[in-house]
Amino acid sequence: MSRKLLSVGLLAVCLQGQAQLDKEVKMNQYITILMQKMTLEEKIGQLNLPSVGFDVTGPILSQGVEEKIKKGLVGGVFNTYTPAAVRKLQELAVNETRLKIPLLFGYDVIHGHRTIFPIPLGLSATWDPALVQRTARAAGDEAAADGLNWVYSPMVDIARDPRWGRVSEGAGEDPYLGSQLATAYVKGYQGNDFILDNTVLACVKHFALYGAGEAGRDYNTVDMSRLRMYNEYLPPYKAAIDAGVATVMTSFNEIDGVPATANKWLLQDLLRKQWKFNGLIVTDYTGIPEMSAHGMGDAKKVGELALNAGNEMDMVGEVFLKYGAELVKSGKVDQAVIDAACRNVLEAKYKLGLFDDPYRYVNEARNKTAIMNEAKLALSKEAAIKSMVLLKNANNTLPLQAGKKIAFIGPLVQDQRNLIGNWSGAGDWKKAVSIWSALEQKYGAGKFLYAKGANLIDDPALRKRLNDHDGQITLDEKSPEQLITDAVQTAQQADVVVAVLGEAFGMTGEAASRSMIGLPDNQLELLKALKKTGKPIVLVLMNGRPLTLQWENDNVEAILETWFGGTQAGTAIAEVLFGEANPSGKLSMTFPRNVGQVPIYYNHKNTGRPFDENQKYTSKYLDIPNSPLYPFGHGLSYTTFSYGEIKLSKPTITNADKLQVTVRVENTGNFDGVETVQLYIRDLVGSITRPVKELKRFEKVSLKKGEGKDVTFTLSVDDLKFYNTDLKFVAEPGDFKVFVGTSSEQVKEVAFSLK
Ligand code: NOJ
Repeated sequence: MSRKLLSVGLLAVCLQGQAQLDKEVKMNQYITILMQKMTLEEKIGQLNLPSVGFDVTGPILSQGVEEKIKKGLVGGVFNTYTPAAVRKLQELAVNETRLKIPLLFGYDVIHGHRTIFPIPLGLSATWDPALVQRTARAAGDEAAADGLNWVYSPMVDIARDPRWGRVSEGAGEDPYLGSQLATAYVKGYQGNDFILDNTVLACVKHFALYGAGEAGRDYNTVDMSRLRMYNEYLPPYKAAIDAGVATVMTSFNEIDGVPATANKWLLQDLLRKQWKFNGLIVTDYTGIPEMSAHGMGDAKKVGELALNAGNEMDMVGEVFLKYGAELVKSGKVDQAVIDAACRNVLEAKYKLGLFDDPYRYVNEARNKTAIMNEAKLALSKEAAIKSMVLLKNANNTLPLQAGKKIAFIGPLVQDQRNLIGNWSGAGDWKKAVSIWSALEQKYGAGKFLYAKGANLIDDPALRKRLNDHDGQITLDEKSPEQLITDAVQTAQQADVVVAVLGEAFGMTGEAASRSMIGLPDNQLELLKALKKTGKPIVLVLMNGRPLTLQWENDNVEAILETWFGGTQAGTAIAEVLFGEANPSGKLSMTFPRNVGQVPIYYNHKNTGRPFDENQKYTSKYLDIPNSPLYPFGHGLSYTTFSYGEIKLSKPTITNADKLQVTVRVENTGNFDGVETVQLYIRDLVGSITRPVKELKRFEKVSLKKGEGKDVTFTLSVDDLKFYNTDLKFVAEPGDFKVFVGTSSEQVKEVAFSLK
């Protein structure tokens, strides 16, 4: 770049910086003047976040919300949407309160708002941050057209325990992939400018470590070393903060014996001071009163703890509302704490432009054009296709040949309800395309055989638990035996059987942990009966967590993981099954052989006694291998890819160098396809023990059949850094390995060193 251009560039950056400063000064002045007019009660009112409308995750504790809004005792609400509903409540705030401060409107927009995309675990299997960003942008656009200005996403909790139902809401087990996707979500929801009427505040959650609950049981205790936190669990939250996320939600669990909602170290030292977060901190649903059950004191005491730790909005608990003023008057909470919290709530509203136009997000015309339009439906199909993971494909059983006689069997073939998965509150499952209707639409009615084969769940206790909370699981009129008999007869007439099996959507998500993570027993029984027909079987799975699939893997020809694929899932699955699209998803979470291996994750430590078949005293199980059934990064294609040897730009680098890692990838099969090339490193000697592999880069390459490409990754010393025992982020000179390949297990490797 010439000198002149450089100085023009610098000038532009300076001007931009100046404009930003001017904006902030203006905002601060505006809020200072407004706050001078506010009473203590009105300030505390801004910290109150009740739920209106739906009972999503617990009892609706906020009574008489409308009355409270009129009294200026509400800062925002959540769980209500549509321009009409939002207008009604906003009018109460703007027309009937003394200071006319508009409300925030939040909602759990988790994987789409009205148009539903695959569940986040499925989206993470795309390994495609740009695509994830597009889905978040589309979700943000729809939410904003439906009156909302705040979404409670992304959930970035690292999860290594598939028993936990909420693994469906996150991006799996890896800090690097998780960080890339956290950034993508934030950028997608928030766009570049809040002042646009289709960008919304994002909320990274659940801060922090919520994914590490003991035994995979939701809300359970977390206890973790700082080293593990910094190196393995915190990076995705940090990535969201660095991407400019506007709000943070605290988690239900404890950290170092103190619930996150009362944890000063977490919210002050780490989030505010170390990470420089200057947005808004909100609690989770009744997170404050729940601290009494944690054993932190009565309602007033936990309110004091929550305020002093730095929570600024109280979701549903109404503890701030009840005790905030008293706590200030008695000197337990400083007035400055309330002022700072109130300022952050008002800043969020200011940034959204709500003081200029409280109805910025209330636009009936936009509501009609933005919601479930053609582009969003096309994106939903694209995301569903790219999220599918081909776990096994013996004898090239897939893709199916339309000329063959194919029997589609299973409770999920014609199902619509489960396709949109959990956390899809505003999604209309009746608009979801089932596999069966997609097949009929594409190939005409009467082309394929069908049998239901089994209910989704036969276990009455489980069914009751799910149905008590809107599980919508029904039983067929036929007995389970009759269903299987009919299915076997149907299968006998076919050349190939496609069994569509899985979890009910309610078996995943919040408060949906399972101790055994296989297919429901009755569905497995169906599969075993189908196997006895001797027909080749393709297993199409719908589920929200890694399942244990050892029997399935050993007995069926092909397995296609489709997660809960969203509004267009049926069409997407049909296109993949028949080869119109080639699967390219890769697992973001390890699939164990059985539950006894959990927690299981690829980036584990080596131990002092790594597995050795010939030695008794090594780290292993007597009854199964240590390795998972399907490792992190695994995912096949209808084509095959070959990897050449890894070439390094140099064998040794210094702190100032870049290391180029090049590998040739060739499509050696019979289909065009997309491969996700993965690069891992291992630090061989460190001042603390280091993982056997760590993902550091990945790239998706599209290759026509017969085509080859050189893929080059550039690493620098920063990629070799980790937090040491002093929690300093350092790279230590010494020997490393770099691995490149198609999964965390199937890799080539070479050595290099850092001088
Ligand atoms: C509880 C959940 O933990 C959180 O993820 C969600 O955003 C809130 N409820 C609001 O529904």
